[in-house]
Amino acid sequence: MPYEHEAPKAEHYLSVLEEIAAGIRTGRGRSADYIPALACVDPDRFGMAVADLDGGVCGVGEWRTPFSTQSITKVFALALVLAHEGAELWDHVGREPSGNPFNSLVQLEYENGIPRNPFINAGALVVTDRLQTATGDASADLLAFLRAESGNPELRFDLEVAASEAAHGDRNAALAHFIASYGHIRQPIPPLLDHYFRQCSIEMDCADLALATGFLARHGVRADGSRLLSRSEAKQINAVMMTCGTYDAAGDFAYRVGLPGKSGVGGGIVAVVPNRCTVCVWSPGLDARGNSVAGVDALDAFTTLTGLSVF
Ligand code: DON
Repeated sequence: MPYEHEAPKAEHYLSVLEEIAAGIRTGRGRSADYIPALACVDPDRFGMAVADLDGGVCGVGEWRTPFSTQSITKVFALALVLAHEGAELWDHVGREPSGNPFNSLVQLEYENGIPRNPFINAGALVVTDRLQTATGDASADLLAFLRAESGNPELRFDLEVAASEAAHGDRNAALAHFIASYGHIRQPIPPLLDHYFRQCSIEMDCADLALATGFLARHGVRADGSRLLSRSEAKQINAVMMTCGTYDAAGDFAYRVGLPGKSGVGGGIVAVVPNRCTVCVWSPGLDARGNSVAGVDALDAFTTLTGLSVF
């Protein structure tokens, strides 16, 4: 049996979510300001959802309000590339925590243009490059995958956010050119950056994201029952989420939450309880490392109240 069908249904978690929402302190931290279109989002907002393994979902607060997924999409791009090419990817991107900010350049020269992991921006640019090589339309392929897994055909790029990021995209352009100089990016850089910014701009709500992450709780099995990844590959992605999914705060996230997780500067975080459920929380106030302050608190409370963690 690929996964445990007897796991509790999403509604089982509703009272825990209500307790978390009643106690959460929002408004701490700041909305991402290096992407101007995200700077105006109110840091007080909060939503949280749990999805079960069979497509059931429930939530609290603004769990049906779409927000900018940003770096959370790095998980799905990685999954698609692993499905296309398997372990060859790891010749071009590592799987160690960087201990550095998500947009840092500093390790790349010491480490021959091979980014530390697929979840920092440098590594995600390598992943998007490989997805583009494999499919010819990386961002459209990713959007189609997210629509299918979430069951929401309305998902779309926010082209205003993508343009806003492109207009302030010198850091990502520098990363891409530097990696290309070592031969680990092969596509022309300007269209590659367009795909990367469109990928980051995809708008989803907590329910969409919890559902779309389900294949990682089902050991690689998609929403329609087909297999995207082998059980080992799903384990590998969960492991890299645990060790690298929240950048230079990954140690603290593992300590407090104890689940594979991935954050984005839109204020969302997804977390996976293998064989059980997936969780998505959104609150746009970020700490200095780019992770949602109330989001990490809420996931910390979730694992404390439910006793669910991989440890
Ligand atoms: O490339 C960037 O900087 C953004 N599009 C995504 C960064 C991000 O979400 C980092 N997350 N915490």
